[in-house]
Amino acid sequence: MVAIAAQFTAEAYPQVHRNASFKVPGPEDVKHFRSFLDDDEVLEAPKGDDEALVSFNQDWMNKYRGQSNLVLLPKSTEKVSKIMKYCNEQKLAVVPQGGNTDLVGASVPVFDEIILSLKQMNKIREFDPVSGAFKCDAGVVMKDAHQFLRDNDHIFPLDLPSRNACQVGGVVSTNAGGLNLLRYGSLHGNVLGLEVVLPNGEIISNIDALRKDNTGYDLKQLFIGAEGTIGVITGVSILAAAKPKAFNNVFIGLESFDVVQTLFVKAKKELSEILSAFEFMDKGSIKCTIEYLKDMPFLLKNEHNFYVLIETSGSNQDHDSEKLNTFIQSALDEKLISEAKVSANMDEYNTIWTWRKSVPPACNSYGGMYKYDMSLKLKDLYSVSEAVTKRLDAAGLIGDAPKPIVASVGYGHVGDGNIHLNIAVREFTKQIEDLLEPFVYEYIQSKKGSISAEHGVGFHKHGHLHYCRSEIEIRFMKEIKKHYDPNAILNPYKYV
Ligand code: MLT
Ligand code: ZN
Repeated sequence: MVAIAAQFTAEAYPQVHRNASFKVPGPEDVKHFRSFLDDDEVLEAPKGDDEALVSFNQDWMNKYRGQSNLVLLPKSTEKVSKIMKYCNEQKLAVVPQGGNTDLVGASVPVFDEIILSLKQMNKIREFDPVSGAFKCDAGVVMKDAHQFLRDNDHIFPLDLPSRNACQVGGVVSTNAGGLNLLRYGSLHGNVLGLEVVLPNGEIISNIDALRKDNTGYDLKQLFIGAEGTIGVITGVSILAAAKPKAFNNVFIGLESFDVVQTLFVKAKKELSEILSAFEFMDKGSIKCTIEYLKDMPFLLKNEHNFYVLIETSGSNQDHDSEKLNTFIQSALDEKLISEAKVSANMDEYNTIWTWRKSVPPACNSYGGMYKYDMSLKLKDLYSVSEAVTKRLDAAGLIGDAPKPIVASVGYGHVGDGNIHLNIAVREFTKQIEDLLEPFVYEYIQSKKGSISAEHGVGFHKHGHLHYCRSEIEIRFMKEIKKHYDPNAILNPYKYV
């Protein structure tokens, strides 16, 4: 990985100004925090040392970098509450941070905001194997939630390529969709309750909520996908599903996006209740991933224009395997697909998933990436990738070094109508950015899509909501922000 030290966001985007009403954190503030936080709950950068807190200040794509000198890592909800109460009174700006795997610059500061890391709130609180209700602190890493639930014959209803680092609270704050939304639905349906610290320090909690609760407004929904702009999620209750007994998957090569859609319709019909994921990748995604996974032999013999990963999960291995094999044979007979590799055991199943989950790190491995995440009608889903690639290619920017762009690739969740467009770069340049924006957003608007299917708004899409949200919707969002956070101290310069 050629890590780019990101330029400071404040320098890269001089049009964004620090909110002068925010206090600059000083020694008296640190002294106050130390009065109720332990030594390992306060991290300060030594004076003049820009590098000390870089892993908290810089995002995963190496694109955004804040200049915070102070990270607080409280171990309890009460401490989060004390921190927020003080920051609100003192007008100190705060950025809540989970695993910092966010993809829109939402989890890092822009200027000198205090970073409020949830990583030390990492306890599993409770699990009810009868209802499936799983309660944990916001800072539990997703892979640990998966492991705990697997050990208890259940599964966490969401999986992501960043599962080894992302945290449950961050995922809920982002409303990430993940690889199995097709089967388990979105977090707006799976989250049973939340514990949230409001900007003024008040704690609002319905973490003990039952599956059904129809008593008035469902306030927790506002925090799901709010990206930490109206409250800090400190605890999550989520509905875990019973662990399927049989998992199977297949990696398929085919030649056009029209066929991807035909295959999706066929899979829904013929695999029906056992279908749990339907992911696609284009040729460029796999080319980058082959380079990234180096010595790992690719799954298929030939190169194809598109690849599809289908997963089934059900309760009977023989039944599910037979159903999947019959489906694949019929797709081959109908000449819909050219080649397929069906997993024969769990090792092969995991290897097949590795090829899909490695696409984002593969694209990021050349230095960094510009990243877009969109919802579109299925018939239009891949067209945005074609349009953008053509535009960048026409400008002569894609190719071997010294050209700045390695590849422009598309992949994503067909079942959810969600495409990820990654522009893998050796360096970030104004020329590339100007070619991409507002072109991408205008394209999405013309197709009545959404400029974010699951990665959110963050710093990257701040001010761009009008491409897919009406004036009245944006006004309501602003009013909600003002209601919860009148001093606007929580995750400023993001969202609305
Ligand atoms: C994915 O689908 O792989 C995730 O949304 C992450 C990503 O696109 O980087
Ligand atoms: Zn995704």
